[in-house]
Amino acid sequence: MDMLINKFLGYFGGSKEGIRIFTSPGRVNLIGEHTDYNGGYVFPAALTLATTVVARPRSDKKIRLIATDLEKMVEADLDNLDAYRNLKWGNYQLGVADELMKAGYRVIGCDLMYDDKVPLGSGLSSSAAIEVATAIALVSLGDERYGKGLAIDKIEMAKITQRAEHNFIGVKCGIMDQFASAMGKKDHAIFLNCRDLSYELVPIKLSGYSLIIGNTNKKRSLGEGKYNERRAECEEALEILKKAMPGITCLGDVSCENFEKYKSLIEDKTIEKRAQHVVYENQRVLDSVKALKEGDLSRFGTLMNQSHDSLRDLYEVTGKELDTLVNEARKIEGVLGSRMTGAGFGGCTVSLVRDDKIEEFISKVGIAYKEIIGYDASFYVSQIGDGGREIPL
Ligand code: GLA
Repeated sequence: MDMLINKFLGYFGGSKEGIRIFTSPGRVNLIGEHTDYNGGYVFPAALTLATTVVARPRSDKKIRLIATDLEKMVEADLDNLDAYRNLKWGNYQLGVADELMKAGYRVIGCDLMYDDKVPLGSGLSSSAAIEVATAIALVSLGDERYGKGLAIDKIEMAKITQRAEHNFIGVKCGIMDQFASAMGKKDHAIFLNCRDLSYELVPIKLSGYSLIIGNTNKKRSLGEGKYNERRAECEEALEILKKAMPGITCLGDVSCENFEKYKSLIEDKTIEKRAQHVVYENQRVLDSVKALKEGDLSRFGTLMNQSHDSLRDLYEVTGKELDTLVNEARKIEGVLGSRMTGAGFGGCTVSLVRDDKIEEFISKVGIAYKEIIGYDASFYVSQIGDGGREIPL
């Protein structure tokens, strides 16, 4: 931490007095993709890769932002946050400040330095890590009772940061990423019901196996519209299915059985495919949680494979890079399952790999990917860490 503090003082000057440090992680979603904004189930886990924020209050109403890997400082006025919506870097943080104030929190001027260890734009929720770390930092600086006896309501932080992403960034994301970043627990995955935010922390014991994340290194941007387009397609399907099932409020309410019964009402084949993915993916989350609780890793692997295939064929959010990583992964003996994780359109995969095959996996999949795609993939052995918090100094 001393190195980060010295770097902070190099950028902003002044003394160590008042400095506090906050952190929040990225996440890997084990299964349950594009179900969150449909009121369905998800099963993410927080990573040990995180964003760390060094923060110090100011006596005026300015927020100054910088990152360890970015030389240019952003300076914003707390009374005029709307002016910073289109910043290339800094808009996530300022969007969070804006939503916190709208929710009635006291936000004070401060200097913030970000150290991002979640690969940006990789589908591992680098943005949620920044948002949640920012929310915890701003709330803690603005009200001294937090951290001194009064606990921050992290589920509320997750909801506020999700709103920042909707209103400031324009991505109508679900709650999964912010929830996982805020609420993660070491060695546990979060079985979350996105309709009412009830959740269960499930211990992840993969005896003899590991989760390997493969990064396609294809940058994606949710702002490009495909994400919001999928969301709109699901809403269209819901409206049609409501005619037969007036009681449903989201696709997460529809069982596979009822979907089969009423799917013919959906005339547009694309809309039908989107809904079919959501309904069956939702069931796969339930089946996965059961399989993992029973220690049935091979069943979980099969469900991971089905999830990817459905995201490829029905939801159509994979693409050549993700499909290549997954196809090559599945060729390696000792791989129980492999799928894309996150929104798709590039980003990362997650594979369940037998421990004695990890080296072979990384080398063989890496070589094949480069041959087919033309540039390198990167691999990380994923470790499940804790959610957003202050790091005591
Ligand atoms: C992104 C969104 C999440 C979720 C996933 C897909 O990560 O931020 O809310 O919808 O895509 O499962």
